[in-house]
Amino acid sequence: MLDFSLSSEQLELQSLVRKFTAKEISPFMKEWDERHHFETSVVSKLAHLGLMGVCIPEKYGGAGMDYNALAIVCSELEYGDTAYRTAVSVHTGLNSMTLLQWGTEDQKQRYLVPMAKGEQLGAFGLTEPDAGSDAGAIRTRAVRDGDSYILNGSKLWISMADYADNILVFATVNPELKHKGMTAFIVERSFPGVSTRPIAGKLGIHGGDTGEVILENVRVPVENRVGEEGDGFKIAMSALDNGRFTVAAGAVGLTRACLDASVQYAHERKTFGQEIGRHQLVQQMIAKMEAGLQTSELLVYRAGWLKNQGVRNTRETSLAKWFAADVAWNSAVDAIQVHGAYGYSNEYPVERYMRNAKALVIYEGTREIHTIMQAEYALGYRE
Ligand code: CAA
Repeated sequence: MLDFSLSSEQLELQSLVRKFTAKEISPFMKEWDERHHFETSVVSKLAHLGLMGVCIPEKYGGAGMDYNALAIVCSELEYGDTAYRTAVSVHTGLNSMTLLQWGTEDQKQRYLVPMAKGEQLGAFGLTEPDAGSDAGAIRTRAVRDGDSYILNGSKLWISMADYADNILVFATVNPELKHKGMTAFIVERSFPGVSTRPIAGKLGIHGGDTGEVILENVRVPVENRVGEEGDGFKIAMSALDNGRFTVAAGAVGLTRACLDASVQYAHERKTFGQEIGRHQLVQQMIAKMEAGLQTSELLVYRAGWLKNQGVRNTRETSLAKWFAADVAWNSAVDAIQVHGAYGYSNEYPVERYMRNAKALVIYEGTREIHTIMQAEYALGYRE
């Protein structure tokens, strides 16, 4: 039986986060975006509401809800701004959920529990200056030394790098093994040799943090290795199955923001003696946003449903992320068009939506990576 309805618990959650975003994020976003300011009190308030570990089991300090509850949180937060959804994506989707799946009981107690409660923030360190789409080509080295590993290298484009208490870092124990040498480590910010610096000059997500992580002779105890040596690529890919899901869900919220802004403006603005919503070319843009919104949402909830069943969902999540991010980008570009010259200025939020939407089409697998993955699945080259 197909059931397209949200449960009463999910509807309550949606209403809670929608009100939260309307009160705590949206009214301030223009200023925060202009000042390149990430407001940490928003994260503390999210933690207070139990939203930093929404789908982590209660026994590990989370709210014990399902994957589609996480999608709801991400969608509603991104309606306010991409920055706060990104924080939840890396903290919950890429870091906490990965420890839940791959971590030891000791790692769960030391890191997952405080992260689920929102007492610590997590980030994800895969990408490097010379390894983005080609994730198996990372150069950060991990060399075993007694009961520790010594890590050296640099990670780039790391969301929340400057705020995270711990980073799930991927390094290679043997570059000759290519992706089979990749190994995952929990690296605390406080470990000697760890430093971070923010990246300036980004096109969008001005209200969020993106940084570089530098690892100089960082001694990481063996208890902080996640999985075995060589498991890192699979761990990173399984983390991305969750991270991409949160990006797709966020894209749904961004598209809804574009649609709502466009509908409101289309009623307010008059040309040729009537509101512009009466003009068919404006209607075409709004109809495309509506269709894209509905379709993206279905793809996200289907991927979430598969996750809830514990079924491998790389294919469906990749499709949801690819499709929903493209829809958000196209919707943002059209939302500016609907607003005309006003849309080109920051008097309206749609220019911010467009700058933010571009990140969705690039991070956690570019449009091109997902296009290739979908083609390979369809052609039977990938299972
Ligand atoms: N779960 C478990 N195992 C998986 C897996 C998954 N989801 N995906 C792949 N694997 C396993 C495969 O089974 C395979 O195992 P064997 O070696 O035992 O056969 C192994 O991993 C290699 O898999 P593939 O053959 O699929 O590897 P590939 O080289 O073809 O993959 C790729 C290439 C799909 C392009 C992959 O490199 C990729 O997804 N690249 C994009 C990376 C990316 O999204 N980066 C974003 C970084 S995060 C970010 O943006 C940070 C931020 O702060 C927001």
